[in-house]
Amino acid sequence: MELTYLGHSCFLLDTGAHRLIFDPFLSGNPKATVAPDDITCDYVLVTHGHGDHMGDAVAIARNNDATIISNNEVAVYCGQQGVSVHPMHIGGAWNFPFGRVKLTIAHHGAGIETDDGLIYLGNPTGMLVTTGGRTIYHAGDTGLFLDMKLIGEMHPIDVALLPTGDNFTMGVDDAAKAVEFLQPKIAVPMHYGTFDLIDTDPLAFAEKAGVHGARIEVMPVDATITI
Ligand code: NI
Ligand code: MN
Repeated sequence: MELTYLGHSCFLLDTGAHRLIFDPFLSGNPKATVAPDDITCDYVLVTHGHGDHMGDAVAIARNNDATIISNNEVAVYCGQQGVSVHPMHIGGAWNFPFGRVKLTIAHHGAGIETDDGLIYLGNPTGMLVTTGGRTIYHAGDTGLFLDMKLIGEMHPIDVALLPTGDNFTMGVDDAAKAVEFLQPKIAVPMHYGTFDLIDTDPLAFAEKAGVHGARIEVMPVDATITI
């Protein structure tokens, strides 16, 4: 199957039978080259209710008659806008037609500014997706946490997508420690370089994380790897 990086924390996973997009922040992302209207997918996975993750989720779901998978609060919020949603929460898993999704903890926040003030959108999450014999862990936005060891022990990870941008999430050193905890086969940095506040060096991550046995893939925007 193929995994394509669309910038920030947005990835498109094509299993051959299904297409899943994670955290589709395309409109307003200075590094994205793909427009929301160009996305074809069956499911939209949203790790948490921040604009740079929820992004174009509703528009993409509407265009594709796709289902948004997220925590309950984000799912209710998106569902109120008339799209199909599947609410979940941390610790829970569900078998979808493409495979299994389990939500994990993430240490972060969530909420968006609207004309009616700040809307709180529940606990942020990470997502474990098991499909076609592969397990992909999208960490969402999070600080480092020791339970990553448990996540790696219980769910052998083929690909870990880890924020490395610092300031709002793990930086390079903590993300390298996350690779040690998770023991993935492949680790991919994300959530860096989009804005000045998160302008860390992915090659520094590759150097520090590379000692822990994983293959580190620094994916340019629009790059695809076969997993
Ligand atoms: Ni966030
Ligand atoms: Mn973010």
